[in-house]
Amino acid sequence: MCRLSVNVDHVATLREARRAVEPDPVHAAVLAELGGADGITVHLRGDQRHVKLRDLRMLKDTVRTRLTLEMAPTPEMVALAVATSPFMVTLVPENPGEVSTEGGLDLATLGKDIAPIVAPLHDAGIALCAFVDPVIEQIQAAAGFDMRAVELCTTKFAESSQENARREQIDTLKAAASLAARKGLQVHAGHGLTYENVGMVAAIDGICELSIGHSIIARGVLVGMEQAVRDMQSIIRGACQGRRRV
Ligand code: PXP
Repeated sequence: MCRLSVNVDHVATLREARRAVEPDPVHAAVLAELGGADGITVHLRGDQRHVKLRDLRMLKDTVRTRLTLEMAPTPEMVALAVATSPFMVTLVPENPGEVSTEGGLDLATLGKDIAPIVAPLHDAGIALCAFVDPVIEQIQAAAGFDMRAVELCTTKFAESSQENARREQIDTLKAAASLAARKGLQVHAGHGLTYENVGMVAAIDGICELSIGHSIIARGVLVGMEQAVRDMQSIIRGACQGRRRV
């Protein structure tokens, strides 16, 4: 089976468009769970331009499934993560001007520099995941840092419009998922997944969690969060049925 963690960042984006108090990502998380979400994800950026520390704290108190905090690997963010204790932290690269995360964390280059970030999170009992591009060196680096999971970046797949380019990206994701599973890592995937393209990723053996935000929130604005999550879960579950057990 493949879990669905719903990223509610863009509810905060809408709130911050008017610097108002609504819509509230905490309310959206409750509705996502009622619609069948297996987890809730938020990205607390260093500048808190969308999701705020208040949101993270309230989600910690209200989420009944699994709360994942996406964050940059900085000492300031580590302190906030240790203080709030989400179920999982996913380490992501962060560039100040970016619209959304632009690719995986370069763990292979960061090398030992990541150790002081990882250690306090491990000590606090927080499960660790690294968002990485689906390439061998990054998965090997993640396994070396005793991460529980890797989240494979699906942006290139999502941005491929030609059928053969898409197939090529799926093959790359399959190879990366298989290597990560052999290294003992849980395999997550996400970024840019939609109702139209998610089936091809959900069908990949070994992927046990998908992290999806924009597409669900976009549909949720029109049909309601619960329905939007139900629709996505139904596609994911259908696609998983053809898999062999891992
Ligand atoms: N995974 C990671 C690491 C992300 O940074 C994001 C965006 O915040 C997502 C998944 C969700 O991407 P999308 O909003 O395109 O579904």
